[in-house]
Parts: sequence; C-alpha cells; structure tokens
Amino acid sequence: MSLKTKIYDIQLTNCLYNASGVYCREKEELDKLLNSKSGALITKSCTLNSRKGNPEPRYYCDNFGTINSMGLPNNSVKFYTDWIKENMLKPTFLSITELNFENFCKITQYISDMEHIKLPEFNLSCPNIIGKPQIGYDFEKMEEYLRKITEIYNKPFGVKLPPYFDPVHFQQVSDILNNYNKLKYITAINSIGNGLIIDIEKETTCIHPKNGMGGIGGKYILPTALSNVNNFYRLLPNKDIIGCGGIYTGGDIFAHILAGASAVQIGSCLYEEGIDCFNRLSNELLELMKNKGYNNISEFKGQLKTSSPTINR
Ligand code: DHB
Repeated sequence: MSLKTKIYDIQLTNCLYNASGVYCREKEELDKLLNSKSGALITKSCTLNSRKGNPEPRYYCDNFGTINSMGLPNNSVKFYTDWIKENMLKPTFLSITELNFENFCKITQYISDMEHIKLPEFNLSCPNIIGKPQIGYDFEKMEEYLRKITEIYNKPFGVKLPPYFDPVHFQQVSDILNNYNKLKYITAINSIGNGLIIDIEKETTCIHPKNGMGGIGGKYILPTALSNVNNFYRLLPNKDIIGCGGIYTGGDIFAHILAGASAVQIGSCLYEEGIDCFNRLSNELLELMKNKGYNNISEFKGQLKTSSPTINR
C-alpha cells in the first residue's frame, strides 16, 4: 500500500504536506519538516523584503479551529530560495506573494531563472493585509496577475485560491484559470477571510489586528474546502487540485481525495499537534484504505458519488 502521488511532474512519496504559513517560517521548522513523514513541504508565503507582520495576539485556537491575522511575517524570498537550494531532499514548493502589482512583478522576476524552484505556489489569497483586498476575489485583477506570471515566469506554476461560495464564481474563476496552460495546480482553500471569534468572558476579540477579524481555519472550514476541491476538480480537468482546509483525521484526507485532491496540505492541525501529525494522519489514512481495500490513492481520487434520490410514493 502506498500514499504516493504526483503534482504535475513532481513525484511525492506521501500525499501529505504542510499548508503554507504553518511550521515553515524559520529555518528550524523547515529543517524539521524536511525530516518528517510529510511527502513535500512548502515555505511561508514570502515577500521581496522580510516582514515582522501584524501586532500580537494574532493567532488563536478554539475547539473548532483557528483564527489568524499574521500579516505576512517572513524572512524574505532570498532566505527561502537559499534554504531550498541547500536542502533538496524532498519536493519543496516556494510560496510567494506581494502587496502590490509592481512588487509582485519584481518577486516573480527574482525567481524566474532559478532552476531549484519548481512549481512555485503564487498566493492570490492573503486576507490579512490591512487595506489590501484578496486578489482571488477581484477576477479582473486575478487575470492581470496570471498574465504577468506567465509573461515573466514562463514555467509551470500553481496558485493558492481563497474559498468561493457560489456556483457562478466557481465557473467564472475556472474560465479564467483554464486559459493558462502553464498553471498546473491550484491549492484550495486559503482560510475563510475576515471571520471573527469572540471571547464572551472577556468581552473582547481573540486577536488584535483588524478589529479582531482574521482568516478562519480548522474544523470550521472542512465543508467549504471539500466543496471548493470538488467544484474545481470538475471544472479544471487538466490541473491538479491540492486540498487544504479542515483536515484532522485520515477520514478527512480520504474525503479530500475522494472530492478530487491529488495531495493535501495540513494547517491548523499541524499548528496545534506539531510535526508528529504527519505520522498519525498517514497511519489513519492507510488503515482506512486497508479496510476499504484500496492500495493506492489513485484508485479513489475524484470518485465521489452523489447520493441517490429517495423515491416519494
Ligand atoms: C498570511 C495569511 C494567509 O492566509 C496567507 O495566505 C498569507 C499570509 C498572514 O497573515 O501572514
């Protein structure tokens, strides 16, 4: 039995890895991910220059998941691309973003000739920058960014998308993405942006930035993530879907793959449980596959069936 998979032309020995932003900002964390059971790793979304991010408290966890407004704290694109160059032991994806179009062009240019950077994940969905809307919710802007990426980068790449909630939007986004042949995968979903978790005892927000509003992750978002994975699996037949959102068990991973995910990323669960979650989750998925008689994830990927209608007599 195996959990191996492929993202475009990159082979992974295990279909699980971290979600960008979690356990991947500092060298020590990246080093530990490299030696963990994860099949790949992805860096914290980075910018041209390092950033300290938003004031704390900026992360909070309750029984159903997490809220964060980190504000892109990162060590700069140079730090992460240097680390990748020195640590080529398992597939490593660079996540990049920027706060405006001009800098986005510059950072894309910066990585464009790097042979050690494969299938970078362009993040079009950071919800936590004050005064900056998410690119993925402005379809014209998204096209402009994609056009620029293909113009400057000219190699296969992926994008991280925000969650969508309406069939019309799934169709509109897919119509745009399908025009870009170099776009080989999408990661769905980023956190549900600008949620609010309230501490009723203290009568305060749980985090400080943006009046307490932040990206929601964890159990809160599994159904939204599964819907995005399955809608895009149907609408983007020539691209891989990386599932992200709400995974805490082998069953959650199975659901993502059944909905169409080629691989899955672990965010809130990794943040709370730590690096050993890759062991536990791999074992749980393998156990479930054994019970169901599957040897390989390709045997059930995208095989979700719609429940039969009940006949009213
Ligand atoms: C941050 C949060 C995100 O959801 C993201 O995609 C990028 C950055 C952050 O707040 O650091």
